[in-house]
Amino acid sequence: MKSNERQRLFIQEVSVRDGFQIEPIFVPTEQKVELINALSHTGLAKIEVTSFASPKAIPALADAESVVQRIERVPGVQYAALVPNMRGAERALACNVDELNLVMSASATHSLANLRMTPAQSLAQFAEIVASSKGRAQVNVSLSTAFGCPFEGEIPEAMVLGLLERLAQIGVQRVTLCDTTGMANPAQVNQLCRQVKNAWPELMLTLHFHDTRSMGLANATAALDAGIDRFDASLGGLGGCPFAPGASGNVCTEDLVHMFEAMGYDTGVKLDALLELSSRLPQVVGHDVPGQVVKAGPWTRRYPAPEGVSEKAAEYRLTGSCGGMVSNAGPRSS
Ligand code: COA
Ligand code: ZN
Repeated sequence: MKSNERQRLFIQEVSVRDGFQIEPIFVPTEQKVELINALSHTGLAKIEVTSFASPKAIPALADAESVVQRIERVPGVQYAALVPNMRGAERALACNVDELNLVMSASATHSLANLRMTPAQSLAQFAEIVASSKGRAQVNVSLSTAFGCPFEGEIPEAMVLGLLERLAQIGVQRVTLCDTTGMANPAQVNQLCRQVKNAWPELMLTLHFHDTRSMGLANATAALDAGIDRFDASLGGLGGCPFAPGASGNVCTEDLVHMFEAMGYDTGVKLDALLELSSRLPQVVGHDVPGQVVKAGPWTRRYPAPEGVSEKAAEYRLTGSCGGMVSNAGPRSS
């Protein structure tokens, strides 16, 4: 990489799935399609457009087929859908999604509460789904509660690594580690990501954080430091699993993009376009959303100084007093 080339990161949008699945209102299909189409033109690498779950379990996404059939597919963007079981995989494959995002849980309790299956039962179904998806769609596996479970508490690293080993054995090449209820901390994230990268350097690894305890962005930078370049995020910071007590929104897409771009990374995403879409989100869901940058504006935002202050500040700078003070005092280390 040339020194002036910015490192590329990949941002994967989940608001229409993780976000809308927990909303008490049903967002009309037309509005979902409109939002997905607009998101498709912002430079996002992937958009998870719906979930082929049981409509009884997730009524907010009962229109999965209609959504997938009606969206515009922009070249270069991958269109994924969440899939909990074989029935969901059949539905997703019939709609020609680019990627089946198979969901399972590291924690047996969350798995049974969310999917009514044990992790072993999920793995058995996934082996069949991987085989039937060959040549038709990519397969990613999202591992929920990988950093902690709201029922069981700590999830040992060895358990996560063991599940990844099983997934590798059935031919899964894309995995997302999900912090379903925001229990992860940056030190834990950094350590687990390093271990996974070491053990499976070819794995396409995504990190999926929820900001439930305000550690979402810190966790994202900790993952970045461990070499992770793919992140799920949700416009406005919507999101949450309805079957995980205490769940709340994902790390906010525009806040994540803003932070990475400010740090000098290339997300490929047009922040202005995301902010515009995010500002319209409260009308869609009927409440305020957690995103910060849409309220504060990007860090490049400037305000007019109070009257007379600009001239005085310019004069002060001209006299060289501020720079002078530093040079008179000598360098900080002396
Ligand atoms: N899509 C549509 N219908 C499905 C389905 C799917 N993927 N999986 C099961 N069903 C239907 C069955 O056909 C059956 O229908 P019927 O009542 O009309 O006969 C009914 O759902 C029950 O089927 P069963 O196999 O007993 O499943 P279940 O009730 O134990 O539900 C799941 C299992 C996995 C389908 C359900 O719990 C689910 O969709 N969970 C998803 C949870 C989720 O998405 N969480 C958020 C993501 S973290
Ligand atoms: Zn999530």
